[in-house]
Amino acid sequence: MNDGGTARASAFERGGARKAAEGLDHLSGFGNEHSSEALPGALPEGRNSPQRAPLGLYAEQLSGTAFTEPRADNRRSWLYRIRPSAAHPAFTRTGNGAIRSAPFTQTVPDPNRLRWNPLPAPAEGTDFLAGLWTLGGNGDTTQRTGMAVHLYHATASMERVFSDADGELLIVPEQGGLLLRTEFGLLHVEPGHIALVPRGVRFRVELLDASARGYACENYGAPFRLPDLGPIGANGLANARDFRAPVAAYEDVEGPVEVVNKFCGNLWSATYDHSPLDVVAWHGNHVPYAYDLRRFNVMGTISYDHPDPSIFTVLTSPSDTPGLAGVDFVVFAPRWLVGEDTFRPPYFHRNVMSEYMGLIEGAYDAKAEGFVPGGGSLHNMMSAHGPDRETFERASAAELRPQKIDDGLAFMFETRWPVSLTPQAARAEHLQQGYDDVWQGLERHFRPLH
Ligand SMILES: [Fe+2]
Repeated sequence: MNDGGTARASAFERGGARKAAEGLDHLSGFGNEHSSEALPGALPEGRNSPQRAPLGLYAEQLSGTAFTEPRADNRRSWLYRIRPSAAHPAFTRTGNGAIRSAPFTQTVPDPNRLRWNPLPAPAEGTDFLAGLWTLGGNGDTTQRTGMAVHLYHATASMERVFSDADGELLIVPEQGGLLLRTEFGLLHVEPGHIALVPRGVRFRVELLDASARGYACENYGAPFRLPDLGPIGANGLANARDFRAPVAAYEDVEGPVEVVNKFCGNLWSATYDHSPLDVVAWHGNHVPYAYDLRRFNVMGTISYDHPDPSIFTVLTSPSDTPGLAGVDFVVFAPRWLVGEDTFRPPYFHRNVMSEYMGLIEGAYDAKAEGFVPGGGSLHNMMSAHGPDRETFERASAAELRPQKIDDGLAFMFETRWPVSLTPQAARAEHLQQGYDDVWQGLERHFRPLH
């Protein structure tokens, strides 16, 4: 751990997202006790809550875990802001759009293997929040357990500000760069990166291109952390130093700003008389972060057999049972395949965990066709799946020279409970018909000895 240093950034202004995204400074490291101030002297020294905070700011704590959780798990930050978060009018219900939340009870859980094409393009003027579309999930927002799978397709930058009391939001861009303006400062992500906004942190998503689409995992459970490495050792998989946290940057806006708050599955709206992105300095470890998936240090066999995909875990949200994740975020990044006498693509399997897979670019090595960037597949608990017929035939006959897989970036949200679909996902026009057919025609090769 290090304190990340104390960094400075100037106040930002609305608009100019691409310009603002260029050359952003950041703090390095995962889970660090960072500190940052946008103006010199804004951060109190030696205490969190002095009688009068510097520069006339208000001091405020944001807790991501219970006060009393063990030190290694504890997440909280102290924010020094122009107005306290408490200064807001009443929230009133607003439309949920295509966002749905756990418990997901409107469809019967489906044991079938399912696959979707990308979301249809939305109307002009659709911002990130309006462009969020929930596929399904599990758990219960009021119990802080489980997760939701969302996709997004946006054509406009947000003017409003959003925060999610129900969980943290892991954003996986597939098309279009994003600038996240958060209470903690700015984060820039492009396809191939991920961004995480912790529970309760306010932010606005601005587009760096004409449109943006991708995936989001809303994690209602324990905050994502890096997985333990066991015998791998002290380094490898996603290295902590490659995670980027923002430096403090604030907007000093007096005037109406709509703030939308997701709470126990519903969206609530209030119009503030100022921007709540007014944090001039902060310190703590409950912070947004970004990570470039291409920096993932991929481990795999150098002898034989395809390792279990848990070896590709980037982030994990632990449950109360050791080793059992509420949700894992797993990436299938470019890598060498060198296994001898080995069926090299992912093996046929049935998994007690449920797997939602998405594709950021290129192709996935277990599926020859039909699984396209922006699309996704769901293999629920114990559903039988694996390579399609074409992949099986090819890999079974392939000459086993060292082979580089460098044309694809796929990922998985793997969760301990079945994913129940929303009605809009179960009945979507972009739900593929006949996905089962990819496993048809797997020929009988059985030749009993006699
Ligand atoms: Fe699988």
